[in-house]
Amino acid sequence: MVDDILKRAEQGCVLHREEVVELLSIADADLLKKLYDTAYRIKEKQVGRVAYFRGLIECSNICIKDCYYCGIRRSNENVERFLMDEDEIYREAIWAYEAEYGSCVIQAGERQDEPFIAMIERTVKRISATTGGQLGITLSLGEQTEKTYQRWKDAGAHRYLLRIETTNPQLYAQIHPEDHKLETRKECLAALRRTGYQVGTGVMMGLPGQSMGDLADDILFLKSIDIDMVGMGPYIPHTDTPMGKAVPPYTELENKQALTLGLKMIAVTRIVLKDVNIAAATALQALEYTGREQGLRCGANVIMPNVTETDYRPKYQLYDNKPCTDENSTMCRGCLSGRIKGIGEKVGFNERGDSPHFQARTAE
Ligand code: 5AD
Ligand code: FES
Repeated sequence: MVDDILKRAEQGCVLHREEVVELLSIADADLLKKLYDTAYRIKEKQVGRVAYFRGLIECSNICIKDCYYCGIRRSNENVERFLMDEDEIYREAIWAYEAEYGSCVIQAGERQDEPFIAMIERTVKRISATTGGQLGITLSLGEQTEKTYQRWKDAGAHRYLLRIETTNPQLYAQIHPEDHKLETRKECLAALRRTGYQVGTGVMMGLPGQSMGDLADDILFLKSIDIDMVGMGPYIPHTDTPMGKAVPPYTELENKQALTLGLKMIAVTRIVLKDVNIAAATALQALEYTGREQGLRCGANVIMPNVTETDYRPKYQLYDNKPCTDENSTMCRGCLSGRIKGIGEKVGFNERGDSPHFQARTAE
């Protein structure tokens, strides 16, 4: 049955929900290999054997949100809060540019106040001016008004990442406080699309109570909103959060299971969505040292090397065991380049690496 589904998917047939669930439920090692190999062949055909680098700048851990899973939630008093100044963000973006990364990603906890909005606007303008618009600028700064999204777009940002986290309304309500609404997320994604960004979203997999049916619905949601980029990763408990406190830290076996689920989601997303960009999330590497390159082997084609100053890195712990917190940007560049070469792929240096899906969508 799985063989048949994979064969039809590769021929371009549209998969039904039950078939997506069946692929996500694979447990047999031989079938898993077939799933990953099929996803890899589709990746090769659609986006090639090239991994694009996006230099990740984690510019502030100050956050107005209080998500029950996240290490930098506003109620976590064990976090030493920081906000980089404009020069620091600018310098790190230019570092990424000079390191021949096609793009940078500016990420932070959520803030909706005017001083923050204006600071991002000025910084994006400055990066865009210096690089002549050559460096892709992606923002990952949470829920904002359409006007704010527009200001940042006008300043020179190209892409925006806003994870939906889960599309199951009950599950969303379980992992967020009352005033964090799934509907608001959806409206923000629609506003981002209207504003003309390349839009990326994704979910966490392995949340307590999440079923394969939920994850299949998540993938079909990504398809239904015609998403350009996917960023998703395994949920990993953080000890200082309500959800992390409720369970003991992951055992080796749980790490392995979470990794496998993460890889299956990447593979099935590649099989169903085909020509989108899919990131191999850093969280994969928190579960196993080679997690990110395994993600590439299963269909992902984007990696986000951290370009944040080392001093700030330990303060941006969304989950336990986040990798690369002692390393610096040069080390991560060398390390990840080596890993990519090791699996027989090339790094798309100096290329923006827009998803073919976005190019096709906008050429219509
Ligand atoms: N485990 C995995 N991912 C997490 N994120 C936040 N907390 C965790 C966690 N404990 C993810 C969310 C968010 C992104 C920036 O980080 O999906 O959107
Ligand atoms: Fe940062 Fe390997 S990717 S040290």
